[in-house]
Amino acid sequence: MDSKIQKLDTKIAEAKLGGGEKRIESQHKKGKLTARERIHFLMDEGTFEEIGMLVTHRSTDFGLDKQKILGDGVVTGYGEINGRLTYVFAQDFTVLGGSLAEAHAEKICKIMDLAMKNGAPVLGLNDSGGARIQEGVVSLGGYADIFYRNTLSSGVIPQLSAIMGPCAGGAVYSPALTDFIAMVENTSYMFVTGPNVVKTVTHEEVSSEELGGASAHSTKSGVTHFTFENEIACINGLKQLLSYMPQNCEEDAPSIAYTPGDEKRPLLNDIIPDNPNQPYDIREVIDGTVDENSFLEVHKDFASNIVVGFARLAGKSIGIVANQPAYLAGVLDIDSSTKAARFVRFCDSFNIPLLVFEDVPGFLPGTDQEWNAIITNGAKLLYAFSEATVPRITVITRKAYGGAYDVMNSKHIGADMNYAWPSAEIAVMGAKGAAEIIFKNEIKNADDPAAKLAEKEAEYAHIFANPYRAAARGYVDEVIRPDQTREKLIKAFKMLENKAVTLPKKKHGNIPL
Ligand code: COA
Repeated sequence: MDSKIQKLDTKIAEAKLGGGEKRIESQHKKGKLTARERIHFLMDEGTFEEIGMLVTHRSTDFGLDKQKILGDGVVTGYGEINGRLTYVFAQDFTVLGGSLAEAHAEKICKIMDLAMKNGAPVLGLNDSGGARIQEGVVSLGGYADIFYRNTLSSGVIPQLSAIMGPCAGGAVYSPALTDFIAMVENTSYMFVTGPNVVKTVTHEEVSSEELGGASAHSTKSGVTHFTFENEIACINGLKQLLSYMPQNCEEDAPSIAYTPGDEKRPLLNDIIPDNPNQPYDIREVIDGTVDENSFLEVHKDFASNIVVGFARLAGKSIGIVANQPAYLAGVLDIDSSTKAARFVRFCDSFNIPLLVFEDVPGFLPGTDQEWNAIITNGAKLLYAFSEATVPRITVITRKAYGGAYDVMNSKHIGADMNYAWPSAEIAVMGAKGAAEIIFKNEIKNADDPAAKLAEKEAEYAHIFANPYRAAARGYVDEVIRPDQTREKLIKAFKMLENKAVTLPKKKHGNIPL
């Protein structure tokens, strides 16, 4: 028996060495950890159980028969993160460049299937040269097997992806199908076709980093939701992100202990400037309302005219969507609509109540927006809110103009409670624009058109630049002092805790894509 046990020990040691010392060293030299090191930092100590450590590929083409490495370039298994069951796969770049083929994909599919059966999140740590070229079409089949599972798992269990090295070609579509992507600055990149192909086809000269690095995807494309300056920060970020989510769509997110106290927040009274055209940072409103230091912003550097993220209110997880007057006056455009729509749908899928802070002057005008389909894209946000069945509350801090008023979680599309601050202006448009249209002739024929415009603007503002017309109709449930916001929200979300809404029976809706 001893020799048999020894044989097992040898195999385990061999598997743990992946592609060998030299390649591990080269991985470290690039500022990257190995797959096993990443898992070590990710999982609670001693909880990780590896599955399929001794799996090898079955290919003999192009010398692969001499390159069989135990584990086949991916470490898979389960363990705990902050005491909660989580499945993980981590691609091992030291083994055939972490390339994916039949056996490698089967290992990933196996843990994805287990995660679905047991209702727990899957984390993918990607670091791979893509489809294993020597194995040909089975590599492509392997990807598709994963994509299919990503899609079936969507909305059932949370799926998170970290990009910690290359992720190119077909490989990008698994992370793209997951709920959140995090990238590490300078050591990771994602693209469908790399710089060489780009040069051949479009004659553009671009580096990997410029084309698909963390910065490009966090600011330009919005493909990644988070960027981190190194792998440890990325791993810690993933753990924090998970803490706001339930294990699956049947459960609620974990809450943390909370002792009620004085919930008045006087600082909120001083944020809105007297001049309605002056910007302010909506993050001050968010931070001033939610539990201290609990706001985790998602998509921080993309479409900054809307702010989305997770927070806790009285210890409970909530999702926040807020117009940002400090950027483009908080206007809704294509990117901000799709960013917010996706976030709303994630929260709704996983029973995370939604809180909206609204200060929106309308949709962004222009040919760029119209020709790139602001109509279709704006409709995504409208659709996402309308179909969301989680508790939904809106606080109008200032402007709620035009169609954007309807879109931003208005009462009419199913919000449960709508509050307005006394600074709210709920109208079809700003007073000046409104006066110019409805008093066009009167202004034109006046002895002093400018004075007439000012007079009519003041008249319109007096009637509509306030929350009271909407409150009179019940479109706003209550006009509240800003300093009361937190206590009102805590009470209202508690009141909505058992909300149960059933959507009309359907196979699935047809969100405008
Ligand atoms: N299939 C098989 N082996 C691969 C591979 C793939 N797709 N990608 C990388 N490898 C192997 C390399 O042959 C190399 O093997 P070796 O250590 O035995 O020499 C090892 O992985 C490391 O790759 P290397 O090129 O030395 O690393 P790098 O950091 O310099 O470059 C890449 C990384 C990803 C840019 C580069 O490996 C690459 O271009 N790979 C091919 C990408 C691709 O076209 N994939 C198919 C389409 S999805």
